[in-house]
Amino acid sequence: MTAFTLPKWYDLHTHLRQDGLIAPIIRAHLNMACCGVVAMPNTKPPAAKIRKDDPLPYTSIEEYRELILRSGGDGFTDFIVPLYLTKDTTPQMIADGAKSGLLRAVKYYPPHGTTGADFSTALSGLIQSGVIKALEDHNILLCVHGEEHGMASEDYFSRSSNAEEYFYRERMPRLIEEFPKLRVVCEHITTKVAVDLVKKSGGGVVANITPQHLIYTVGHLLQGLKYHLYCLPLVKFAEDRQALRDAVLDPNNTKFFAGTDSAPHTVKATECGCAAGCFTAGIAPQLYAEAFEMAGADLSQSAQQKIFEKFLCHVGPDFYGLEKPKGTFTLVKEPQALAKTETPDGDITPLPLGLGQKTIPWSIKA
Ligand code: NCD
Ligand code: ZN
Repeated sequence: MTAFTLPKWYDLHTHLRQDGLIAPIIRAHLNMACCGVVAMPNTKPPAAKIRKDDPLPYTSIEEYRELILRSGGDGFTDFIVPLYLTKDTTPQMIADGAKSGLLRAVKYYPPHGTTGADFSTALSGLIQSGVIKALEDHNILLCVHGEEHGMASEDYFSRSSNAEEYFYRERMPRLIEEFPKLRVVCEHITTKVAVDLVKKSGGGVVANITPQHLIYTVGHLLQGLKYHLYCLPLVKFAEDRQALRDAVLDPNNTKFFAGTDSAPHTVKATECGCAAGCFTAGIAPQLYAEAFEMAGADLSQSAQQKIFEKFLCHVGPDFYGLEKPKGTFTLVKEPQALAKTETPDGDITPLPLGLGQKTIPWSIKA
């Protein structure tokens, strides 16, 4: 039976939420040997100011950090809450936040483009207002949900292009050119266009990749309308998945790393649509191992285990400058049964269970 031991890892893009969800969700992260996270700021209201005493009607990073800590996050080695960029973000906020040490990263969402993106503002406005320049000047990371906002449905996902490809063809190259020292995390990339852009950019441009985008394609979502696989950016085509797989399997990978985009929803499908987000907290290293095998890796070989370790444990934390974790965990090729995660706000279905799979091939031992 294949088994290999890894250092604990950081989930560098996840959604911990609030209220009754946050404690069970953090527990799920700790159970999958996560020693820390980048906790996304699309809370209600969004974490779009830095300090509690700022009168703006948002959650502060300071408060959200405290909530995470008292909900079990004190078990993390480190965690980052990026500042949600809105029309109210100013260059002064960035400068002050950087000086205080509370601000380490910010998050750009395409306005109205995904769950909790209603407070966002267009990238062009953030460039004009000097916010992006302030990020570059103060060495604050820009985490980008790279999809064009407000596209006509015909163009959002068409035979020839889609919202992510448009963003990585039109917006991102210009952003990088105008701000060459800006450090950018291209979040949850899904297309070959995005992979190619990250590869050909300098060392300040990196990307995280989710398990679902390595495992599935849009056909898996559409065949039977498997709504648990509905997340944004959408799963794409086989060529795109191949580009993602090649990127993570490259022994010289220094740019592509784990970030699950685990996004819990107690209600996924409703009468008039579906909430975007796949829930993978608790089982992500197992799913990444499965994805590597599907991509052709032989995880019984130590050289290939090292490539996996680079992707899961080193590339991202090195870029973020995170503390090295102390503990280890072991991935074992032994089936694990799946169950819903129970929370006071309702049950959450892990992605494979939502697709009708009662077990996954890999399990974890602490
Ligand atoms: C995320 C969520 O539910 O918060 N959903 C998703 O489909 N990924 C938001 C996001 O990261 O886009
Ligand atoms: Zn996300």
